[in-house]
Amino acid sequence: MTIAKIMTGTRFFLIQQTSRYLSLFLCVATLYYGCKPDRNKYRSWTIYKADSESSSYSELSEIDKQNVNQLQVAWTFNPNDAVGLRPGNSECNPIIVDNVMYATSARHRLYAIEASTGKKIWSFDPFNGGKGGGINRGVTYWESGDDKRILYTAGNNLFAQDAMTGALIEEFGTGGKVNLKIGLRGDTATIFVIPTSPGIVYRDLLIMGAEVSELYGAEPGYIRAYNIRTGKLEWTFHTIPHPGEPGYETWPKDAWKYAGGVNDWAGMSLDEKRGMVFLALGSPSYDFYGADRIGQNLFGNSVVALDAGTGNYRWHFQTVHHDLWDYDLPAPPNLVTVNRNGKKIDAVAQTTKSGFLFVLDRETGESLFPIEERKVPASRVPGEETWPTQPFPLKPLPYARQHMTIDDLSNFSEPAHDSLVKRFNSLRYEGLFTPPDLDGTLMLPGTRGGSSWGGGAFDYSTSVLYVKSNDSPEIDHLQKVEATPGLEEQPTYFQGKAIYMSYCANCHGRDLKGFESLYPPLIGIKDKMKKEEALAKIRQGAGRMPAFAAILQGKEKAIIEFLFEKENTKPSQMESEIFEIHANKLSLERTDSADRPMYLNTTAYGHFLDIDGNPGIKPPWGTLNAINLSTGEFVWKIPLGNHPELQEVGAPQTGAAGSGGPIVTAGGLVFIGSTHDRKFRAFDKDTGDLLWETTLPGIANATPCTYWSNGKQYVAVSVSGTVENPSGNIISFALPE
Ligand code: HEC
Repeated sequence: MTIAKIMTGTRFFLIQQTSRYLSLFLCVATLYYGCKPDRNKYRSWTIYKADSESSSYSELSEIDKQNVNQLQVAWTFNPNDAVGLRPGNSECNPIIVDNVMYATSARHRLYAIEASTGKKIWSFDPFNGGKGGGINRGVTYWESGDDKRILYTAGNNLFAQDAMTGALIEEFGTGGKVNLKIGLRGDTATIFVIPTSPGIVYRDLLIMGAEVSELYGAEPGYIRAYNIRTGKLEWTFHTIPHPGEPGYETWPKDAWKYAGGVNDWAGMSLDEKRGMVFLALGSPSYDFYGADRIGQNLFGNSVVALDAGTGNYRWHFQTVHHDLWDYDLPAPPNLVTVNRNGKKIDAVAQTTKSGFLFVLDRETGESLFPIEERKVPASRVPGEETWPTQPFPLKPLPYARQHMTIDDLSNFSEPAHDSLVKRFNSLRYEGLFTPPDLDGTLMLPGTRGGSSWGGGAFDYSTSVLYVKSNDSPEIDHLQKVEATPGLEEQPTYFQGKAIYMSYCANCHGRDLKGFESLYPPLIGIKDKMKKEEALAKIRQGAGRMPAFAAILQGKEKAIIEFLFEKENTKPSQMESEIFEIHANKLSLERTDSADRPMYLNTTAYGHFLDIDGNPGIKPPWGTLNAINLSTGEFVWKIPLGNHPELQEVGAPQTGAAGSGGPIVTAGGLVFIGSTHDRKFRAFDKDTGDLLWETTLPGIANATPCTYWSNGKQYVAVSVSGTVENPSGNIISFALPE
């Protein structure tokens, strides 16, 4: 059904079509008669994940189950801003306001683009010609009369721009920007705070979370509200409570001075009518060992409801007590409405990395389905006190695998299988919530398992929530950091190596090989940049790379010598000891818990793979799930994505990992990328049947959006960079004319 047909064939339209076409007709009529472009709820995409409720839902239905297979590329926007640089990863969910799309590129520049043509209107470079990069999932729009602004973060700065021209708003903060390091706890010269998901608007306030370090000595992830007109900090919510605040008693008495994390890096949701903001908080630091934070650790891993105007506490629900697994709440809660015994109840649905889905009453935070506090295994690591129980919702059933046995190990070849069996048997593994251990433990679904920042898409007409999930086991292997004096007496190369292993290996890898497209390899750095350039980058940081100026003071020569002169050398036993000591010393100075032993998870975030590098668990590795939140029952579940080279003959698709989320439309469709096979797909929302797929030039590791512009529905998605085009793209699809 094309627009022309609807506009001309009114009789046909009235007889044939259901109410969804009526709403489309009204929208078309509005545009036709030259009124203000349609900005009704659920019909536009003016906010990250569609709306304040983070629904990722659209009322648009021009593209439907019958015609989706005709979708074609309407336009491709190539920011062309990373030529000669390594391919960037774009996680941006674009927003569209008055026919203008606002989006960030993989390199983290901001663009205003004509939504129906893909033509650039203006752009902004927060790095002033620097390389940029780093994670950015999108921007926030605000208006008051003719004053229209885009709020956007890069590094530790929050920028306010004129939405029409891209010019910085001079009266906001200092010349259009606010330094987010100011107002946290630590020294602004050394702390690491980088928002990765956009803030949310309540009246004239922008409410913001941020990413902070996950290591010992991290900053606390306080939630802050800034005045959008002036940039002034209006309120702060202490996610690690201060004395006298609710939850303070769940920590050691001085922890508020040194404990960190408990941050909202994934974004939040807002109930305008109730004036409430809903946070999805991450785990406390250090992620895998908590001897300096004995207790339940509120508001770690909690959904927290605050009064949006004041930041006052309303309620909380903790999904993991005293987290030792980095089970951050990874996505903004979905504000949903469900049916219970014939009554409509406003609720909050929280997706998780663990695979549990929590459905909470929006007013009280109480679970709408029964929850059991079950006994979980205790830690054997000295100093650690595991919380004895964890909450298990009885419904819905977990959407990720939470337990595996020897039978679940993959079997791509006999030697590969044998090695997995050997490894599996050497580990401590007692299912979900097995605490990290000195002998190594298995963790499933894993820190990249369950669902990630893409979160859920909620269909208001059916109460069904759609969620992508990954089964991605990993190994946690704790190692004690021993104290032995004398680093300063070591040759500069060893000093450099020690610094590298303490501060850099986490991201760039112990072997300097980097990690996927997130962290660049440092092998061969001398062919890529001059020593001075590398040092500047290490001192100042960029994007997701923290600034190390303060830590490096006096040791610049050492780190450069290590990176430039003796790369690729394996650490000897002695070297290993040296770097461990170093980590201990520096971190102790920063944590105020000097008398405590320290442990590091030396295999954190590594996948559990066989000797050939294939997944250690049998497929599916990624699934798409449809869950009815009124009943708690699954409607369907399918593997999402494929690794054809690993798919057995006649077996279902293997599923593939990915972090982006789905969107759902009144046209009866679920759109999702979020697989490493470069596909972008549309499914029948009622059955999970694949109705359309296309191959993109790169991975769409981002949540798509859909919008109406110039009389047409579009579906757009950010595509990450590739070797051929490191800048990545935004690609918008529509039906043919
Ligand atoms: C939290 C993760 C993280 C940590 C920790 C980290 N880096 Fe980085 N590093 C990055 C990212 C991300 C980039 C790419 C930044 C960009 O977009 O330009 C980067 C870039 C670099 C580069 C430039 C490489 C290139 O190809 O552009 C150098 C050199 C570097 N890091 C060295 C270090 C050193 C030395 C340390 C420890 C003192 C360190 N990094 C710690 C994440 C990290």
